[in-house]
Amino acid sequence: MVATLTGTPEALKSSGAQKIFAAAKCGSVSLAQKSASADDIKSICATADDLALTLDNGASFGGSSSFLMKLVASLAPASSLLGNGDKDAAHVDSWVTYATTNFEVVVNALKASAGKGEASLVDSVKKDVDYSISVLNCHLIPTGYMVGDKVTIADIALAVALQSAAEEKLWDPASDDEKTVNIRKWFSTITSADFFTAADAPVAAETSVATSSAEGVTFNGVAPAVKNKLYKRNRIRIKEVFANPAYIGQEITVAGWTRTLRKAGGKLLFIELNDGSCGTSIQCTCEASETEGFEDAKKSGGTGSSFQLTGTLIESPADGQAVELKVRVAKLLGAVYGGDPKGETVGGMLYPVSKKAHTLEFMREIAHLRPRTSVHAAAMRVRHAMAYATHKFFHDNGFLYIHTPIVTCADCEGAGEQFAVTTMLGTDPHTKDVTLPVYEEPEKKELSKKELKRLAKKNAKGKQESNKPEEVKIPGAVDYTKDFFGRRGNLTVSGQLNVETHACALSDVYTFGPTFRAENSHTARHLSEFWMIEPEIAFADLEDDINLAEDYLKYCVEYALEMCAEDLEFFENSPHGEKGLRDRLKNVLENPFKRLTYTEAIEILEKAYADGVEFEVKPEWGIDLPSEHERYLCENVFKKPVVLTNYPKEIKAFYMKLDEDGKTVSAADILVPKIGEIIGGSQREHRKEVLVERCIEMGLDPKAVWWYVDLRKFGTVPHAGFGLGFERLILFITGLDNIRDVIPFPRWAGNAEF
Ligand code: 4AD
Ligand code: MG
Repeated sequence: MVATLTGTPEALKSSGAQKIFAAAKCGSVSLAQKSASADDIKSICATADDLALTLDNGASFGGSSSFLMKLVASLAPASSLLGNGDKDAAHVDSWVTYATTNFEVVVNALKASAGKGEASLVDSVKKDVDYSISVLNCHLIPTGYMVGDKVTIADIALAVALQSAAEEKLWDPASDDEKTVNIRKWFSTITSADFFTAADAPVAAETSVATSSAEGVTFNGVAPAVKNKLYKRNRIRIKEVFANPAYIGQEITVAGWTRTLRKAGGKLLFIELNDGSCGTSIQCTCEASETEGFEDAKKSGGTGSSFQLTGTLIESPADGQAVELKVRVAKLLGAVYGGDPKGETVGGMLYPVSKKAHTLEFMREIAHLRPRTSVHAAAMRVRHAMAYATHKFFHDNGFLYIHTPIVTCADCEGAGEQFAVTTMLGTDPHTKDVTLPVYEEPEKKELSKKELKRLAKKNAKGKQESNKPEEVKIPGAVDYTKDFFGRRGNLTVSGQLNVETHACALSDVYTFGPTFRAENSHTARHLSEFWMIEPEIAFADLEDDINLAEDYLKYCVEYALEMCAEDLEFFENSPHGEKGLRDRLKNVLENPFKRLTYTEAIEILEKAYADGVEFEVKPEWGIDLPSEHERYLCENVFKKPVVLTNYPKEIKAFYMKLDEDGKTVSAADILVPKIGEIIGGSQREHRKEVLVERCIEMGLDPKAVWWYVDLRKFGTVPHAGFGLGFERLILFITGLDNIRDVIPFPRWAGNAEF
């Protein structure tokens, strides 16, 4: 179904029109818009005020924006926008009316009185809105949508109305007020959905804002809500128990691992149970006379044992916890075998994760049980949140996620720090005495004139046809032509070169995957296996790249502050964390990053050195800045993230765009307090001749990256990208110091990870 909304230019930008466009987009209704004068609109439909809706059968309608929104929704019967069934439809209707009477009308009254100084009106409107918001907040406690389990026009009408109310400062969607916690979650879901953000964007007259074009091509609709039809969890996650007061007074089942088990006088047991869904454990009380399985629970071995507990959730009489579980049935799932030195009997002696604080070094040694510790569990929750935020940021920005290869023949950074992937050592790990094939110069034999002529002809033809690199054959060196790939294969150091091929076709892309470096830097910031996020944008220069990087990093910080509140509070108060962590993060959000060139930074460092600041490495133009210089700039000089640009070409990779001075390249590193470099990026060299020259200058055979050079032959475009070290991001967010504490499982080499 195709329809047209005609309106005055002001009306098309109004919140009323926004509701109609959002409903169209949500229901995949192709809705064009036309601007017209008020008189023309009246001639389309006599009852129309400043908006008129015309259907493709020629019928035209006027009326309130809510009515037109409903009409548009009725053009998409499969969308459930009007609610599923009569009962839901009636609820949807009443919430749409609620949006008008309780928000739109009062906000409009306030707008109409603007500047007239009627303080009493402002006060009474504020009170009304406060009350209406508290009603909504209660309604949203057990549910994510106003009606049913999908977006309806009730969500759209209320979200638009609340957006106007926020603009008038009648409520604050960014506050941390407990009274609006549910409404803020719902509001953020609705207002960040594709259908809402696109409907919100200013659109030129005569364009379609719907998901279907005039040619009938359907683009994306609305992602379905996750519904578990088959999978039913046989327990309630502890986080959900705490989040939902409706469970109080109900019988529920939880499961998890014991953080502590305290016995009181043989008749009472207090189990603190944790299932990893949040940091806080639930206090569960078992009584000998009330709890089935009491004796088994008593002999579980204590901390570390696993249970499924069923009982009634009650408001806790004890201090320090809001609720506790009065256990009716305790099912011991796994006892702790640590009652004797051999671990043959039940008891707590051998379980290494006791409640007392352990050192992080010790926890690395018990990597298989480290996930049971508060620090590691919190780090993993933050890690998950940052991965999700990353995908959300790029997806919502229209980027495509490209999976670049893990095993590759290219060396992106040209630093030769790659791990080889080979089958020449044999596939059996126990193979002994492997001799690697070594290249031998073939014996030169005399060729007849005829044979020489034939070979020359063949070689000439071969050269014309192929620009692929020849394997370098050095007598005495390993002969990789005999290897699985017919050349040396490596674990990737970066997906950038590969992802550039997709940027030069799909325009906005990113890759996010594991990368490997055989660097000789065994520091608390370096791993041999780490994950990297690498966006690549076409039709973009260095400034676009830096803007994207700053937006992305700030989004991750904002997401963590909002969605990892419990874990950030934990890190802030943990002996392993950082005091003032959340203030540091808020500071990152609130201030623009400092941007300056490498040359300007060197001048600052040289001056500091001359003034007596002790650096191990003397700062001078041309050096690769060590971490002490990077940290000095962001911790001592600017006290916030710093973006350094235009580095000397000699210390950066071959693919970076040469600046006009011929000395520097359009690179940008982002440095943050505590860590130093968190992001490295650049505008790419898109001019073929310059790229080939840079390869040769950097000692790289252009043939080794022939396809990368080739891209510059066919429709080359300016493009740029960056790489963010994922584990460094987690350090930055959690305040932890050692990168080995934010990876799921460290490898052992003695006690350290290399
Ligand atoms: O600066 P790098 O080496 O840049 C690249 O790999 C580019 N190809 C990225 C691009 O433009 N697409 O690495 C990018 C980031 C660094 O800023 C750092 O955060 C992280 O990756 N990183 C490491 N993280 C942990 N351990 C290591 N050994 C790391 N090496 C780099
Ligand atoms: Mg770098």
